[in-house]
Amino acid sequence: MTRPVLRTDLCEMLGIEYPILLAGMGVWGMGTPPELVAAVSEAGGAGVLGGSALSPDEIRRRIQRVRQLTDKPFGVDLLLPATLAVAATSRGGVRRQLAAEHPEHVAFMHQLLERFELEPAPVEDDIVISDAFAEAQIQVVLDEGVPFFAAGLGDPARIVPRAREQGMVVLGLAGSVRNALRHKEAGVDLVVCQGTEAGGHTGRVASLPLIPQAVDALAPTPVAAAGGIVDGRGIAAALTLGAIGVWLGTAFLVAEECGLPDEVKEALIAGDATEFRISRAWTGKTLRSKRNLVSEAWEQSGLVPLPTPHQRVLMEDFLSAARQAGRWDLYMNAAGQGAGMLERRRPAAEIMAELVAGTVAALSGLPDRVTYSA
Ligand SMILES: Cc1cc2nc3c(=O)[nH]c(=O)nc-3n(C[C@H](O)[C@H](O)[C@H](O)COP(=O)(O)O)c2cc1C
Repeated sequence: MTRPVLRTDLCEMLGIEYPILLAGMGVWGMGTPPELVAAVSEAGGAGVLGGSALSPDEIRRRIQRVRQLTDKPFGVDLLLPATLAVAATSRGGVRRQLAAEHPEHVAFMHQLLERFELEPAPVEDDIVISDAFAEAQIQVVLDEGVPFFAAGLGDPARIVPRAREQGMVVLGLAGSVRNALRHKEAGVDLVVCQGTEAGGHTGRVASLPLIPQAVDALAPTPVAAAGGIVDGRGIAAALTLGAIGVWLGTAFLVAEECGLPDEVKEALIAGDATEFRISRAWTGKTLRSKRNLVSEAWEQSGLVPLPTPHQRVLMEDFLSAARQAGRWDLYMNAAGQGAGMLERRRPAAEIMAELVAGTVAALSGLPDRVTYSA
């Protein structure tokens, strides 16, 4: 059977068949399974390992595992700290700062544990996203010669020259034209512009106005679109807006290879778009996830969100307890408004095939529905 054709400049840039990238998703305590990364690459797109919460050793192990599963291009996404609060560089140190300086926040977390009858299960590793930690993660990505690197939050300037030496492509993620321009100045090859509809950390501008503004402001640096794209119609729209490809997170959360429990996947599928809301409860930064009793309790608490990494360290101890008790309904289930369109769990290859076929159908179906001439 012949495969559908869908090519843009992104395919040349990354050496891939289809201009569809799996978004970097560093789901806490889990990171992206190598199986999902490899499955998207094998299906003609490019998988991306979300490694922000993983130790350098674990990132290396997963990169090597991806390579066992596929010889196709893939990337690694990390969060580079640009605006960290002055913080201790260990989890224990941040916890001591929290106890001394933010007792109401610590009390809020303990009240949650009591309310939901969860056994405390403080996170055991000593990882906090600090400058030194991010540097060690970056070094692994460089050592391993990963085909492309994506900078989630933060300034990629420090990695661009080193990545170039290795022939690595560098992507930067931005939620506004201003941040996109910063990435351009840092010399990235492609800016992924993410609309507020997206799951995970997100900005305030929606994809529809963000993408064309970014395309105009960044030219000739190309743009990929992210946020709210879960089917071929969305991809066709992004290409029409001037993007050369797409970066999809939520659509792949229900892939069989994605490490989330089936219960979470089903909850995302059952969710209505309006239930995926922005909250600062989980990291202190604006993050879109499925609303639940914890995000509601946070909104009602009236507490001021703490900066990164304090809020995150605080809430990770809660999440660890919820996870241990199997209370996924209380977890930070990051997903975007596009979750309202998710229908069922299935293999990543099937999701990819449908995305490609849907895009081709949307593009080629247009003349049937729209009459135009120049
Ligand atoms: C569960 C989840 C975790 C995410 N984690 C990260 C991350 O670690 N680094 C990052 O750059 N972006 C992260 N994001 C944002 C994605 O990279 C991407 O921009 C977003 O998912 C695109 O919007 P969509 O969810 O509507 O497809 C995450 C998104 C989700 C849904």
